[in-house]
Amino acid sequence: MKHQLCNDIYWVGALEWSEEHFHGHELSIRHGTSYNAYFIDDEKKVLIDLVRASQSEDLFRHIEEHCPIEKLDMLIINHAEPDHASSLPKLLERNPNLEIYVSRGGKISVQRHTPGVKEVKLVKTGDSISIGKRTLRFFEAQMLHWPDTMFTYCPEEKFLFSTDAFGQHFASTERFADLVDNKGLWYEAEKYYANILTPYSPQILRKLDEFTALKWEVQTICPAHGACWRKEPEAIIGKYFDWASGKSSPTAIIIFDTIWGGTEKMARAIARGLEEKGVSYKMYSAGAADLNDVMTEILTCKAVVVGCPTLNNGIMPTLTPYLEELRGLRFRNKIGMAFGTYGWSGECIKRIEESLTNAMIEVAVEGYKCQFNPHDSDLAKCEEMGRVLADKIKAG
Ligand code: FEO
Repeated sequence: MKHQLCNDIYWVGALEWSEEHFHGHELSIRHGTSYNAYFIDDEKKVLIDLVRASQSEDLFRHIEEHCPIEKLDMLIINHAEPDHASSLPKLLERNPNLEIYVSRGGKISVQRHTPGVKEVKLVKTGDSISIGKRTLRFFEAQMLHWPDTMFTYCPEEKFLFSTDAFGQHFASTERFADLVDNKGLWYEAEKYYANILTPYSPQILRKLDEFTALKWEVQTICPAHGACWRKEPEAIIGKYFDWASGKSSPTAIIIFDTIWGGTEKMARAIARGLEEKGVSYKMYSAGAADLNDVMTEILTCKAVVVGCPTLNNGIMPTLTPYLEELRGLRFRNKIGMAFGTYGWSGECIKRIEESLTNAMIEVAVEGYKCQFNPHDSDLAKCEEMGRVLADKIKAG
């Protein structure tokens, strides 16, 4: 089965159906994923990107539907994380004379990951090479998403090979975004940005500006994971601008855990306050929710509300991954609020507020703790906190 994308350009990657996590257990993936590699059948036989080592046989089989491995002339490595480039040693065993093109950062990451690679050819933004009837141009796209990341562009076909940028963890035998479950695909694109790219948003904005200033006409974006965007490829680029600039909707996410139900009652009271003011929210029980899905929701919400009882002079361990992820991801333009019950020492609010501040989330409403079981007056206070927060959310 040949996966033709246009005349002489083929997908030659591999599909991953059964993995539930990526990067060890850091990232949950619900729709599988794909490792996308592309073959251009021109006077030069060109391979763009590779696959994970465990999937090498699929890569080789797909390439050999077009050309023997030994006849490949050039390999472009847009990004050398092992999910894309760990099949390189096996490829070089079969074709040791392959010319390898990388960015400056790529030279480091390729040679650190694959010590046997002695020679690579460096390319930088604006460089181009002829492969026969077609040309390949390069754009250094650092932090979209690694320092080694570059884009490869084929002007004759208006194809952009963007490595992880604009990708989705989404396995499908269809190669184009318009042929698959659109809702699931867009969710995965957003989840990828939220959980992987958010910390680099300032650099990403600059890179997107630099890229669009080149005015390269793009008709099809071929990322390194998931489906290719051939209908309105500018839509996903526009979303990246929105996500990178911290654009949010006037909504709130409430994350909590509870021991005997008191903190949950407080969470629900805060939610009533938000509702009274017409602010939409979603509520997650920290122990039951999926961390990466919650971070995806947070990408476009305005307020992050965190609550838990004091436990062992601190917070419940179920909240720790969320607060640590918020610190690392550094979402932009968010406000926050803390709440929780306590028995006798009551450090939960202070700890949550410190964590929100460390995550660059402005504590917009003073937190509230109540001892043991919330009474009606405590719940009235929480409802009022919800209303005050709602006003701040709506004020932007
Ligand atoms: Fe950064 Fe899909 O690898």
